[in-house]
Amino acid sequence: MAETLAGKVALVTGAAQGIGAACAWALTNAGAAIVVADLNGAAAQATAAQLVAATAGCAVAMQCDVADTAQCEALVGEAALHFGRVDILVNCAAVVAMKPALELAVADWERVFAVGVYGAFAASRAFAEAAIAGGHGGAIVNISSITAQQSAHGRTAYAASKAALDSMTRSLALEWAEYGIRVNAVAPSHTATDRLKQAIDAGKLEQATIVQRIPLGRFAEPSEIADAVVFLCSEQARFITGQVLAVDGGYTANGGWIALPAKVERERG
Ligand SMILES: NC(=O)c1ccc[n+]([C@@H]2O[C@H](COP(=O)([O-])OP(=O)(O)OC[C@H]3O[C@@H](n4cnc5c(N)ncnc54)[C@H](O)[C@@H]3O)[C@@H](O)[C@H]2O)c1
Repeated sequence: MAETLAGKVALVTGAAQGIGAACAWALTNAGAAIVVADLNGAAAQATAAQLVAATAGCAVAMQCDVADTAQCEALVGEAALHFGRVDILVNCAAVVAMKPALELAVADWERVFAVGVYGAFAASRAFAEAAIAGGHGGAIVNISSITAQQSAHGRTAYAASKAALDSMTRSLALEWAEYGIRVNAVAPSHTATDRLKQAIDAGKLEQATIVQRIPLGRFAEPSEIADAVVFLCSEQARFITGQVLAVDGGYTANGGWIALPAKVERERG
């Protein structure tokens, strides 16, 4: 991949595993120096070490609970101290409470929003303050989900949190455009991470039923989500802000109509 982000510094939250780790790899391959931030400090260390060992890239790990404002501010401060500045923030940290609404505890709802919405806000604000003070712009990408648009059973808090994240993406894009800070989101469909595999193994999701609903006929790979993130952070996306880009194999374009067999479609012209 071309080094479209050479000289940039990127901070990725929830980067120890899954889509966040894929973003860290893709941003590294695009030439950025990386802060691998995660609640799980040991796993973040391991991911950063793998990045450094496998690429010529520069990565450090930092432990952080994004639901805590002070920790978000300290994270951005430490990242800026280590690398001199931070140009890119990817808000990927999130938790899911996969339960029927009738069983959803207030604490479940609060944690989903604290990590996925408030955490993204607190990290974004700390990032924006540092970028404004440093006199440079930046790019923020929030990792949303297609559930913001099309929910499913057992996702009440999670889907609502992703809808809030999409809305926040637009609001922050408006407020921070004057500082040269672009704010966008990527909304993945089902992506082949350990978390998804665990949900399938536990019988909470049925792979064949989901895949049938996806026009491109498969789950996304984490790297495919990360490629969209790199694009939104790059100079190629310089006039894009306030957008939510679905990376979903056509899932949200699918209105749910029963498809006619291709042969019938051809005969009808
Ligand atoms: N996997 C999918 O199918 C899918 C689909 C759509 C959207 N997403 C979104 O993509 C993102 C990543 O998903 P994933 O499947 O890779 O998840 P994951 O659970 O594998 O990884 C999430 C990471 O976030 C970290 N984390 C959790 N709470 C945190 C906190 N308070 N502070 C800092 N880090 C914290 C975890 O330790 C973990 O490393 C999430 O925002 C998720 O909602 C995933």
